[in-house]
Amino acid sequence: MTKKNVAEILKSDSVLQEVELKGWVRTFRSNRFIALNDGSTLNNIQCVIDFENTDETTLKRITTGAAVAVKGILVESQGKGQSVEIQVSNIEILGDSNPDEYPIQPKKHSFEFLRENAHLRVRTNTFSAVMRVRSKLSFAVHKYFQENDFNYVNTPIITGSDAEGAGEMFRVTNFEDNKAPVTEDGKVDYSKDFFGKETNLTVSGQLEAETFAMALGKAYTFGPTFRAENSNTTRHLAEFWMIEPEVAFMDLDGNMDLAEDFIKSVINDVLKNCEDDLAFLDKRLTQEEKSKPQAQRSEMSLLEKLRFVVDNNFKRVSYTEAIDILRNSKPNKKKKFQFPINEWGADLQSEHERFLVEKHFKCPVILFDYPANIKAFYMRLNDDGKTVRAMDVLFPGIGEIVGGAQREERYDVLVEKMKAMNIDEKELWWYLDLRKYGTAVHSGFGLGFERLVQFTTGMGNIRDVIPFPRTPQNAEF
Ligand code: 4AD
Ligand code: MG
Repeated sequence: MTKKNVAEILKSDSVLQEVELKGWVRTFRSNRFIALNDGSTLNNIQCVIDFENTDETTLKRITTGAAVAVKGILVESQGKGQSVEIQVSNIEILGDSNPDEYPIQPKKHSFEFLRENAHLRVRTNTFSAVMRVRSKLSFAVHKYFQENDFNYVNTPIITGSDAEGAGEMFRVTNFEDNKAPVTEDGKVDYSKDFFGKETNLTVSGQLEAETFAMALGKAYTFGPTFRAENSNTTRHLAEFWMIEPEVAFMDLDGNMDLAEDFIKSVINDVLKNCEDDLAFLDKRLTQEEKSKPQAQRSEMSLLEKLRFVVDNNFKRVSYTEAIDILRNSKPNKKKKFQFPINEWGADLQSEHERFLVEKHFKCPVILFDYPANIKAFYMRLNDDGKTVRAMDVLFPGIGEIVGGAQREERYDVLVEKMKAMNIDEKELWWYLDLRKYGTAVHSGFGLGFERLVQFTTGMGNIRDVIPFPRTPQNAEF
């Protein structure tokens, strides 16, 4: 008796072997045919019950969602839709599932409904495919960096510093409700709190990753990050996973090369390793696109988009060039942008990013050299005194997928910048030390993992590519 999973059995061509399988019933029809799924693949295996020799009570308990163990012989299938099936000699019900109550019926459910049932939605075709791709993608991320001699670093989740300086942090405190001690001027006295200072959940592991790059040369993080920004969009989560490589002696050009090579490599990996799931997601998206008006439909299918990204160079454009393009663009002239582009220095909104990527260049774009005052304090100031060595990678349908920069390695310039941007030098004394002892050119970036999963799976809403999304007013499960 061989113990294999459904994926292995469907791949094997040795029929007439005895098999034993455990899984969940997707459908049961004509009191005979079970579509059994064990999660190893999108595909179900058909199990044919000998209903004359199976007792009535057992037959009644074979319902959608029930866990069962089957034993039988693998044979060539007589029916359409599958090449092999199992002729069941024995079936055992391991766990019942009341068909009148089970929320996941064998029919199409809306994503909204499934979000409310996120503990069960991974049992559907779409979510199981998405989550298997997510898993393979995260392995591909580690594989890429490990094969390129990067060191995986686990940066702190609880931190006293605001890496992005945007003040969008979740406070971490051990004070009991209404019992926080206060200072003489009436503020909460965090010196008496658990850590003896104000602490938050991290928004980025970058600053700590820099300390590793400046010793090990190449480092990367891959961990959860948290942002208390009140953005209810299809691209924002309050808790998301970020990948942050950081490399010593690498400038912005090297950083752009790394980002492009890395993204292409991991997408190529899943194209090879997730064929069934991606084919299913490709079909799903094509179907969904059909319900949209022609003008809003994507010109490429999901698989075409993924191959396009892997096969083509990303377009590298300076912020200044981008502003010129946007200023002279049709939607800007026709006042179609919600935020019109009038002058150099404007922060780019997602409508502008998407115009550049989807309408103008029609390929992934890397924008670089942004105005200093719309970017974080740690980015290296250019000789023009007004732009910094920042880069954002913009993707079709997603917008910003990567944000990064060459870091300001000059002590004096960095201190100036921090003062101007109200960043506490005392809090970041250790970050400044890196510029005192053996400072060097270095660069890195952050890739939002869920945005990558979104692009790769073609899912429209970021809440549908993370197991249990955290968003404003929602922390269920
Ligand atoms: O551009 P961000 O804010 O950059 C940083 O945090 C830098 N410290 C990274 C670095 O240089 N090491 O965030 C990086 C990426 C974004 O490009 C986006 O893909 C993703 O993180 N991201 C989010 N993803 C989901 N939900 C959110 N609220 C996100 N905010 C940023
Ligand atoms: Mg950014």
